[in-house]
Amino acid sequence: MTSLDVCRENFQREFGRGLDCAFRAPGRVNLIGGHVDYNEGWVLPIAIDRCCYVLARRRGDRTLRMHSEQFGETVDRKLEGPEEVHHWSNYVRGVAWALAAAGLALCGADLWISSEVPPGSGLSSSAALEVSAALALLHLSGRAMDRLALARACQRAENEYVGMRCGIMDQLAALFGRQGHALLIDCRTLGVEPVPLDESQVRVVVANTMVKHALASSEYNARRRECEEAVVRIRERRPHVRALRDVTWKEIESEAGEWPENIRSRARHITTEIRRVHAAVARMRQDNFHEMGRLMLESHASLAADYQVVSAEQDQMVALARELPGFYGARMTGGGFGGCTVNLVHAGEAENFRAELARRYQQATGLRPDVYVCRAAEGAGEVL
Ligand code: GLA
Repeated sequence: MTSLDVCRENFQREFGRGLDCAFRAPGRVNLIGGHVDYNEGWVLPIAIDRCCYVLARRRGDRTLRMHSEQFGETVDRKLEGPEEVHHWSNYVRGVAWALAAAGLALCGADLWISSEVPPGSGLSSSAALEVSAALALLHLSGRAMDRLALARACQRAENEYVGMRCGIMDQLAALFGRQGHALLIDCRTLGVEPVPLDESQVRVVVANTMVKHALASSEYNARRRECEEAVVRIRERRPHVRALRDVTWKEIESEAGEWPENIRSRARHITTEIRRVHAAVARMRQDNFHEMGRLMLESHASLAADYQVVSAEQDQMVALARELPGFYGARMTGGGFGGCTVNLVHAGEAENFRAELARRYQQATGLRPDVYVCRAAEGAGEVL
């Protein structure tokens, strides 16, 4: 039985007969371009072959009945009810709220949610949930929305309803993922360009440290504010600048000498990271994985020293990976403060690399990591 068959049975046990639709949306891993999306720069994620599934049935009332397999909980909430602090259902209710705000009236629904994307791991379990739930709710309500507008609505749900000021990379990756490709996303124009990733030569290995620090979301929002402060300072001399994407480090380095240390180093990370994304894409197109891997290591170092979002466990995972055969490069991925690293590995060595990295990390920390060789997968869609 596939996991979808199991979900179907579970849906029926919980809600009875009469499933109307089922959608899936993938998690993502970002190869390079850490914290660049909300600075309107370029990022290079892949959608991964781990998904969130939402199985759904229309209701005649204004209730959302939601069951999360991961949290082992069913809750009933009114479509228009107030949000609660820190509850998984806020991601679904936020999406319903954002779609309604975009003028799309929704019906009530029974929703069975089953996700293979571990929460809080930096693989964007939240966007996978938002996007799969949004597609299911739209389908049940007989509504349609283009994918770009849908990505924006899901981001709005997370920014304004959940209170996490994330950029738009995760939602775009979940919606526009392409099998065998990374996505070069321009986070200002929202242009998405698929870039082939030759998985016969190179594999992406995701390594979950299994540690997530509690400050992640408040520190994330704090980084955003620091970047905004850098932009305010830059605009004193260059009023046309809208985001850190509009300047290079060379252009601002001398004036940044007068800024507070944290603002200077955040701006240095973002402006140099954007350069690294472009260089990495060029290397990837030439199948030059050694150079691409080197840029990923530079990204990791910059995220650690200048952006200060890398946890000790992520650092350790990268250090252990560097010792292994087939290694090209690695970096932390996602918001930081724990979660996963992403590794670029020679295809022929990937399975060995996976097993050996897991073994060494467990030996070093006593924690059993989830390390897996992933595939670049398709974006969200219907599965029934
Ligand atoms: C989180 C956010 C994204 C992005 C990354 C960092 O995953 O949801 O929008 O900012 O962090 O690159």
